Amino acid sequence: MKIYREKDYDAMSRRAAEIIAAEILHDPACVLGLATGSTPEGAYKYLVDWYGKGLLSFKDVLSVNLDEYVGLAPDHDQSYRYFMQSNLFDHVDIVPGNTRVPDGLSKDPGTVCKEYDAYIRSLGYVSLQLLGIGRNGHIGFNEPGDHFVKETHVVDLTESTIDANARFFASREDVPRQAISMGIGAIMGAKKVLLCASGEEKAEAIFNTVCGPISPSCPGSILQLHPNVVLVADETALSKLTAAGVEV
Ligand code: PGA
Repeated sequence: MKIYREKDYDAMSRRAAEIIAAEILHDPACVLGLATGSTPEGAYKYLVDWYGKGLLSFKDVLSVNLDEYVGLAPDHDQSYRYFMQSNLFDHVDIVPGNTRVPDGLSKDPGTVCKEYDAYIRSLGYVSLQLLGIGRNGHIGFNEPGDHFVKETHVVDLTESTIDANARFFASREDVPRQAISMGIGAIMGAKKVLLCASGEEKAEAIFNTVCGPISPSCPGSILQLHPNVVLVADETALSKLTAAGVEV
């Protein structure tokens, strides 16, 4: 695992954006696996800025997002489709039909999950998968459990995730209890993984991901088995690694 140690959130965002931009420049028709949340927001700002300056084009890029809340419409301001539109898609030249986010409103989520995996397989998997990480070590919404779930699936969100995401909703009760998440199979099928983390509250999850036992109790730890992972993190997110003497 290659680790970039950045001084703060902005430096982490810039480095992550550089890696994504390099992927697009190398292969303009690449398949980006995209993430939502506070972590990638800054990287998307850089990408939008570079697009505006004519340095980058998304016109042949395909994207698949990691997850979506069950029960939120695409135009709900906390849905992940809405997040992607407002943070990236609406500001660049990506073709709307080339962007995929799981359908959280479907009456048949089982079929949504199967079709999502079939679509990712049909693309030959993702070229570059961007990941944040939950305080509990989740990647996408693959929550800690007693086994890794390979396929895209409906997941019951843990109390820790509901607590962490309550900041975006009017009240904790408004946070959806379920999500559709890409499974570990599609994430591990990506040719390259870009894991990003910022802040002290991620330090333990990052430590367990990089150094802990490979265990579904920290889903991120499976990335130790992926041959091409880049971790971009700020100093506070790396603090438990550095305290343990791991060279970063
Ligand atoms: P965050 O979420 O980027 O909002 O911290 C990351 C995650 O839960 O995967």
